[in-house]
Amino acid sequence: MDRVIRELAERRKEASLGGGQHRIDAQHKRGKLTARERIDLLLDEGSFEEYDMFVEHNCTDFGMENSKFPGDGVVTGWGTVNGRIIYVFAKDFTVFGGSLSETHAKKIIKIQEMAVRNRAPIIGIFDAGGARIQEGVAALGGYGEVFLRNTLASGVIPQISMIMGPCAGGDVYSPAMTDFIFMVRDTSYMFVTGPDVVKTVTNETVTTEELGGASVHTTKSSIADAAFDNDVEALLQLRRFVDFLPESNVAEVPVIPSFDDEDREEPSLDTLIPENPNQPYDMRELIGKVVDEGDFFEIQENFAKNIIIGFARMEGRTVGIVANQPMVLAGVLDSDASRKAARFVRFCDCFSIPVITFVDVPGFLPGTDQEYGGLIKHGAKLLFAFAEATIPKVTVITRKAYGGAYDVMSSKHIRGDVNYAWPSAEIAVMGAKGAVEIIFRKDAGDEEKIAEQTKIYEQRFCSPFVAAERGFIDEVIMPRNTRRRLCRALNMLRKKTVENPWKKHDNIPL
Ligand code: HXC
Repeated sequence: MDRVIRELAERRKEASLGGGQHRIDAQHKRGKLTARERIDLLLDEGSFEEYDMFVEHNCTDFGMENSKFPGDGVVTGWGTVNGRIIYVFAKDFTVFGGSLSETHAKKIIKIQEMAVRNRAPIIGIFDAGGARIQEGVAALGGYGEVFLRNTLASGVIPQISMIMGPCAGGDVYSPAMTDFIFMVRDTSYMFVTGPDVVKTVTNETVTTEELGGASVHTTKSSIADAAFDNDVEALLQLRRFVDFLPESNVAEVPVIPSFDDEDREEPSLDTLIPENPNQPYDMRELIGKVVDEGDFFEIQENFAKNIIIGFARMEGRTVGIVANQPMVLAGVLDSDASRKAARFVRFCDCFSIPVITFVDVPGFLPGTDQEYGGLIKHGAKLLFAFAEATIPKVTVITRKAYGGAYDVMSSKHIRGDVNYAWPSAEIAVMGAKGAVEIIFRKDAGDEEKIAEQTKIYEQRFCSPFVAAERGFIDEVIMPRNTRRRLCRALNMLRKKTVENPWKKHDNIPL
């Protein structure tokens, strides 16, 4: 018995070294942690249960039978984050560059299936060189099996990808099908084909960073939801992020004890809206002053900044926030903002996370650029997402809610549950000036008349009361009481049940 126990200890020690000490040192020199170090930081201390530590590849081509490492380039298992179960797999770059073989894929699949069966989130940590080149089609098959499970798990359990090194070729599609992708600045990159292939095919010269670094994917492509400075910060933020998420589509939102009074008044909100309707203000200030302890985890902070999305808590319970940002493009809805918010609303709806929508939107962005780029369909995505969502939806119009964008932003007409407006709200088909210029086109030269009619239009239509008179707004509220009104509305909606007509699935305008 002693002998086998000693052998187990030795085999575990050997496996924990992955591709060997010299490759671990090389990993550290690049400023990266190893797969096991990452898992240790991510999970609660001592909670990791590793599976398949002794699995080896079965490839016999290119002399591979003489080159085997226990674990085969991926560390898999489960543990807890602040006591809640999380499944995890982390690519081990020290073993064949973390590349995916048939057996490596089987390890990931086992964890994916356990996560779905046991209804808990799964996190994949990526640092890998794509398909195991020596294995060829066996590796491609493995990828396909992983992708299938990503698809089947979508909407059942939260799936999160953390990119902490190379992520290229076959490795990019699994993250792309998960709910959130995070990256580490300077050490991670994602692309389908690398700079050499790009040079050959398109004759463009780009570096890996220019092609698929964190700055590209958080500002241009919107592939990544956030980027962090280094491995340690990324994993600590991931722990904070996971705390917001329910375990699955049949779990309730997590409740974290809050010491923030639900009745807390914020008198400063009474003066947040500037006198001049064209002057911007920071919507983040409103979010920060309303949610529990001002704690807001923003998603896609540097992409389509004209809309803000992210998670916060009200009375300790997770909520999704969607808010127009008047500081950027006056908060207008364009294609990027619509897509960004639509995907977020759909995530919240999958996992029964109520959404609070703060509205200050002058409409959709005009122009050939937007129209040629498919604004109609992109805008429709957000409309569709809000309309189909059966979660509690509470809306606060702070200032402008013009035209089609009024309808889209979780209005009463698309099943907003509780729709509030501040006294400063202007709910109208368009701004007064534009409206009068159309209605009184024949009086275009008569400046006095135009000014007079603009004033009349402003008084009559640019207020919350026309909508409130029709019941489109449930109540005009004092800005300082916004937190209390939201908390009460969310409490009232906690048992909300609405079912959409049966369908196989919908056909959102992709
Ligand atoms: C087998 C691999 C590998 C791979 C890296 N290695 N990628 N082994 N298959 N795909 C091994 C290297 O041989 C090396 O082994 C170790 O990992 C570290 O690699 P280095 O090149 O020394 O590291 P670095 O300079 O940091 O470069 C990392 C890299 C590069 C950019 C990822 O290795 C690379 O370009 N790899 C190939 C990428 C690729 O073309 N993958 C296939 C994509 S096709 P030793 O023994 O020296 O430590 C694909 C299609 C799937 O994925 C489609 C499915 C839908």
